[in-house]
This record gives sequence, structure tokens and C-alpha cells, in this order.
Amino acid sequence: MRDILVAGNWKMNGSSTANAELMSGIIAGVPEGSGFSLLVCPPFPYLASVAAQAAGSAVSVGAQNVSEHQKGAFTGEVAPSMLSDVGCEYVIVGHSERRSLYGESSAQVAAKFQAAQAAGMTPILCVGETLEEREAGTTEKVIDEQLDAVLDAAGVEAFGTAVIAYEPVWAIGTGVTATPEQAQDMHRHIRGRFEALNADIAASVQILYGGSMKGENAAGLLAKPDIDGGLIGGASLKAEDFLAIAHAAAQN
Ligand code: 13P
Repeated sequence: MRDILVAGNWKMNGSSTANAELMSGIIAGVPEGSGFSLLVCPPFPYLASVAAQAAGSAVSVGAQNVSEHQKGAFTGEVAPSMLSDVGCEYVIVGHSERRSLYGESSAQVAAKFQAAQAAGMTPILCVGETLEEREAGTTEKVIDEQLDAVLDAAGVEAFGTAVIAYEPVWAIGTGVTATPEQAQDMHRHIRGRFEALNADIAASVQILYGGSMKGENAAGLLAKPDIDGGLIGGASLKAEDFLAIAHAAAQN
């Protein structure tokens, strides 16, 4: 069975003081048990201090973005080696906010995915459709294109050390969650694509759900066979809310 990954994407929130409090609350409340892991993804300036606080705990640390370049004249960018240097084990790539607000193309997302892996980190590849795309009946086509860009560049084996997050854009930060059935349908579709390519990878790859996941709906989502965790925004900013999801994972 696949482990469950409960990942908090803090987005552009926090401060030194608030983060320290959040982290001590999370670390103190990690549920007993096995079969799940916890991850937090703070903004760049706080990665080193959050990683130092997380050291020796059950909580891993990841970044929200990474440059596809290794080093050099890229003002404002952060290299993959820098992230692993300060203790990141994961990097989110292709979040819909990066794609829509910062114009990241699927080709660039694929390059970031590969750059993260080359630096020894696990990319969390986000895919998801907008409401217009869902209403137009093109959800699967959109997801396939987003996946294919990375599959073509990196190959299916690369997903042996990667995580996928299905994040329907219409559910992000809206309070509208995909129903467990809607999410399961898409997770099954994604895993099905891998089954056609490599059965072992299909069976092992973790597919997280993201989009208004919270304590109240986590158990229903995590009960679905192809949902292996969550990528959580708003509900990852308070220890109590994040831990409610962690408890749902521990009891799954
Ligand atoms: P919310 O949980 O705030 O909807 O955000 C989801 C998300 O975008 C996680 O990456």
C-alpha cells in the first residue's frame, strides 16, 4: 500500500514568529502511527529556519518553486542545489498559481521537475483544470497535456521518485472541494495513464488531492483508493487544522 503524504503549501504567508509557533504546534501534535508522513512548504526566506526546527521531527520540508537553472545570472531565482543545501526534500512544481500568474509553461514545469530531481529532491507535480475547462468537458485532455509534458521530457521512470498533486483550479482557495468521487475519478484517470506505461510506477506513485481540503472533508477524500494524501493551502496555516488532516491520514 502507498503511504499517505499530508503536505502543507504555506504559499506567501507567515513570519519568523508565526512559523516557529506553527511548527512547534505541528511537531507536538504529530499523530501516533505509521503509513503517513507530513511535509510543510514555507516561502523561500524561511526554509532554513523551518528545516532547522523540523530536524529530528516527523515533519519534512519542501519549497514551493525552484529555478530550472543550476546557477548564474538569474536575478531573483533560487537554484535546486540551494534548496537541498538548506534541507529541502521536496519541491512543488507547476502549481496553478505559478502557471496562471507567472506564465509558467508546461515545458518549463518539466524542466523544473527534472532540475529538482537532479538535485536529489522529490518534485510534487501539480496538475489541474479550470472551471471553464471542466465545463467544456476537457478536464482529462488538460491533465493529460500537463502530464505528457513531463513524461516526454523526463520519462515514466522519473515518477519513481516524484509525487503528483491533482489540484482542480476551481477548488483552490474557494472553499469548494471536489467531491471524493470527482477527485477519485481524476486520480484513477491519472493512475490509469501510468498503468499503460509502467505498472510498478503506477502502483507506487503517490497522487495527492489539493483544493480546499480540511479536517472535515479529509477522511472522505483519503478513503478513496487512488487518493494518497493532500496538498493543503489554507488549512495548513494553523497547527490545529493541519493536524486534523494528519489525524484523518493516520486513521485511514
Ligand atoms: P487551498 O487548500 O487553500 O484550497 O489551496 C490548495 C492549494 O493550492 C495547495 O497547493
